[in-house]
Amino acid sequence: MIFYFSGTGNSRWVAGQIAEMTGDKAVSITEIEEIPDISSEKRLGLVFPIYAWSIPEPMLDFIARLSKFHGFSFAVCTCGGEAGLSMKKLGKLLPMKSVYSITMPNNYIVGSNPDSGEVVFEIIKAAGTRLAGIAEEILAEKENYMVVEGKMAFMKSSVASRGFNAFARSTKPFYADDRCTSCGICERDCPAGTIHLSEGKPEWNKKCYQCLKCINSCPENAIQYSSRTVGRKRYLIDFYLKDNRLG
Ligand SMILES: Cc1cc2nc3c(=O)[nH]c(=O)nc-3n(C[C@H](O)[C@H](O)[C@H](O)COP(=O)(O)O)c2cc1C
Ligand code: SF4
Ligand code: SF4
Repeated sequence: MIFYFSGTGNSRWVAGQIAEMTGDKAVSITEIEEIPDISSEKRLGLVFPIYAWSIPEPMLDFIARLSKFHGFSFAVCTCGGEAGLSMKKLGKLLPMKSVYSITMPNNYIVGSNPDSGEVVFEIIKAAGTRLAGIAEEILAEKENYMVVEGKMAFMKSSVASRGFNAFARSTKPFYADDRCTSCGICERDCPAGTIHLSEGKPEWNKKCYQCLKCINSCPENAIQYSSRTVGRKRYLIDFYLKDNRLG
């Protein structure tokens, strides 16, 4: 079993690629009703994005509810380039035999304009090649710590991560501009179940993982997070997977 959390599809794709090569099943943690009993499973995999050099809240909650496991455990985090000490933290919560970070397109459009075009294709292609090697190592049950932590990892995964959770996850800056067509996709797909349409327009409750799925997947690009995202591109891996350049 490979359990994944994903906002804009990178981690979903990574989990799916590994599952295809290892013969495992990839399951979204926000789409299962009950956590299956994994005590007799041979292999357990976790895949998730890095948020502010740390592990996203829904994955932390999921890990806390997992049953005891004695087989081969591995985890892959997807990130724009720096995972900080998140995979060391993970190892303290759940014994891990093998962990990897893998660079994928950065979806944090609140911070900067995301990459697009050829740059994104090259990143995804490189990740695909690397995943083939990772899958082989998983099948061979090789123990590994192959994580790009980045500079000042301790400070980023402690002080900066706490700052992100305290101040950067508010839903107050979200709004939909007048391009909104009331299609309901944002309400349907928010993994925190926090968006509801009121008189045809989305409104956000307080709970938010800051996965940025809503803002990146609105078909009209109508969702903004304060003025910072106005005029910025959007990122969803599905835009690129449809293109035959990835084969
Ligand atoms: C709120 C937020 C914080 C992020 N923080 C980091 C970070 O600390 N380091 C990094 O390399 N990438 C960071 N990213 C980029 C994502 O980890 C990366 O794009 C990931 O592959 C997205 O996965 P997904 O498409 O499965 O949601 C962040 C993205 C978001 C939305
Ligand atoms: S996804 Fe976009 S267009 Fe559809 S309801 Fe939400 S904001 Fe409006
Ligand atoms: S409101 Fe948007 S950013 Fe927050 S959890 Fe839902 S989809 Fe993700």
